[in-house]
Amino acid sequence: MGCQYFDPCDHGADSFTIAIPQVTFGRGCLGEAGARARGLGMSRVGVFTDPWLRDSVYFATVMDSLCQSGLDSAVFDEITIEADDASVVRGAAFIADGNFDGVVSVGGGSVMDTAKASMLYGLHPVQDFLDYFAPPLGAGKPIARDFLPHLACPTTSGTGSECTSISVLRINALQTKFVLANPALMAQQALIDPACCASLPPMVVASTGFDLLCHALECYTARAYTRWDRIDDPMKRPLIQGANPWSDLAARKALEIAGEYLDRGVNDADDLEARDQLMWGASLAGMAFGNSGTHLGHALSYGVTHLMQDVSTDGYAVQSPFVPHGISVAVSAPAIFRYTAEAAPERHFEAAGYLQSDLKGAAPADSGEALAVRLIGLMQKTGVPNGLSGVGFAPADVPALAASSSRQIRAIANSPRETNLVDIENIYSAAMRY
Ligand SMILES: [Fe+2]
Repeated sequence: MGCQYFDPCDHGADSFTIAIPQVTFGRGCLGEAGARARGLGMSRVGVFTDPWLRDSVYFATVMDSLCQSGLDSAVFDEITIEADDASVVRGAAFIADGNFDGVVSVGGGSVMDTAKASMLYGLHPVQDFLDYFAPPLGAGKPIARDFLPHLACPTTSGTGSECTSISVLRINALQTKFVLANPALMAQQALIDPACCASLPPMVVASTGFDLLCHALECYTARAYTRWDRIDDPMKRPLIQGANPWSDLAARKALEIAGEYLDRGVNDADDLEARDQLMWGASLAGMAFGNSGTHLGHALSYGVTHLMQDVSTDGYAVQSPFVPHGISVAVSAPAIFRYTAEAAPERHFEAAGYLQSDLKGAAPADSGEALAVRLIGLMQKTGVPNGLSGVGFAPADVPALAASSSRQIRAIANSPRETNLVDIENIYSAAMRY
């Protein structure tokens, strides 16, 4: 492939596989839900949403549309703001008992991730919940491909879950999140209506916006797919396969959107152009990282989610301790890209340019600093807490944070720079305050 970053390596992969759902995007397109569900062969639909959205106009639009298309449905809304194993166990029972021939999810990442995993555990039960997770956490049990058709309708502009084959779940007993990734988990269709973002509070737009930004930035700077080992069985090629020409394409545009519209979309709820663009950027970033994987930004966020104490976030009706996903990623991001840039300076330099960093007089060797400065500036403009100290951590917490995040083995291995436990501790120390 004609890009230096993807030059072939001994024993490295020489092919990549791309998967995305059929995507519909536009204001008002939620009204197509019934026709699209019927087109996917559904007659009795299991609808996933959360208790906050159940009274919303967006949910009502989807239900009216399903009804007008003559579809029978039942609703599951017992979903927490961060998808967890307890919600999935309940959702799996809903699927197993519901006699459904399709699923429609209406909500943010938690709702869509719960819907995906509920189908897995409801249709293909296992003895131990962790059996489907990768070792050493779980048994790495193969995932059957026969799922119900799924129409995913996102209501926030961040996770991109409508376009990925990933479900991120909090395992309550372990107090942190882990990733289920398998092509079978991908929705057949995504119905993306940016009107859903009109009433989101600024901090929700900031958190989800940094999530999309970091998806794209981690994806663009991830280890090249040619530096992952070649796969003998093509059916076992993972979608978390490293940066590749497809993920570059979508990540590049998502970075441009974040650079242009994140500040505007957070600070002006009436800026419809910005909010529409952020919704499109989130889906593009999902199509990108869903086919490459993220790296240290997401790996290190899980230590934050695991060990947070006595912290809450404006705009989220959730009891302390709670740090929303996008904020947990953002707080370490400047320190991470200062660290990773030396392994792929040109990539980081290009990404800094797409994000509208100030590159006057700068060279690729300066790209980590340029990216960090741009990220810190965006964090300040959008009210994101100032580093780990802004979400309640102190230097004494660093060893525990690093030990927790070091369990995210695949994401850490997707970093462009080889990263060990001491490196992770150093990054967390540098991320305390900017
Ligand atoms: Fe994320």
